[in-house]
Amino acid sequence: MLEDVVNKVVVITGAASGIGAGHARVFGAAGVKVVCADIQADQGESVAAGVRDAGGDARFTELDVSKLDNWQAAVEDTLSHYGRLDFLVNNAGIYRPAGLVEESEEAWQHMVAINQSGVMYGMKSVIPAMLKAGGGAIVNISSLYGIIGSAGSFSYHATKGAVRLMTKAAAMEHVNDGIRVNSIHPGQIDTPILANLTPELDAAIKARIPMGRLGAPEEVARASLFLCSDMASYITGEELRVDGGWCAT
Ligand SMILES: NC(=O)c1ccc[n+]([C@@H]2O[C@H](COP(=O)([O-])OP(=O)(O)OC[C@H]3O[C@@H](n4cnc5c(N)ncnc54)[C@H](O)[C@@H]3O)[C@@H](O)[C@H]2O)c1
Repeated sequence: MLEDVVNKVVVITGAASGIGAGHARVFGAAGVKVVCADIQADQGESVAAGVRDAGGDARFTELDVSKLDNWQAAVEDTLSHYGRLDFLVNNAGIYRPAGLVEESEEAWQHMVAINQSGVMYGMKSVIPAMLKAGGGAIVNISSLYGIIGSAGSFSYHATKGAVRLMTKAAAMEHVNDGIRVNSIHPGQIDTPILANLTPELDAAIKARIPMGRLGAPEEVARASLFLCSDMASYITGEELRVDGGWCAT
């Protein structure tokens, strides 16, 4: 059903763990050539090796998404190795609970640098290559917390809300260039990031999921693969919730 994605090339950030690693496995199994980008080299190399062991094509590249020069190097490396760059999944992100008043300037700047600037730098760096090639697709991983507010995660909400609107602005800038840009808003997905939740927040969130279970990284990745494929050819600037029904309540 998704034959158009075979032999296309995707850069996935934060691919060493959790949702990013799930993307590497799902895109790799669909025949997409996968560039696993992360700051964690050993884990990233091992995710890429897992994709190759399963019959796919993947390589690791070291990338700190908060540094624009790292992005330029990663794009050049991808183009020199694979000769093309069709999809970008801006997935790398951090979470740390803190309320508005108690948040330190340093912690705020750090979260903005990774969760927001990282997504901006990623789009800015890949779009010229996509324009040259005549098109592409970008998926930005925001969060349910990029749509709704809650107490105690101020900086995370701020950065994920920015990802939601940067997605729509980029989609409009390139709506006639064959480049589609969409955001995905996961609910509670079973990954190591959940270890950063306070026990109270963790229990409160789980009690609210209509499906009664956490999501799996692959369930987010399949939504991204759909958005990158021609199946989603008339979809851009969209915000897709992958949240077990949470936002429907
Ligand atoms: N797990 C959830 O419930 C959930 C819900 C909503 C949104 N999200 C979002 O999904 C994305 C992935 O989260 P996850 O749950 O898989 O977390 P995770 O902690 O398992 O993985 C995050 C990955 O990002 C990488 N990373 C961190 N800083 C980086 C940087 N500066 N440059 C490059 N890579 C960097 C880490 O090394 C790690 O491999 C994040 O953007 C997160 O905000 C997760």
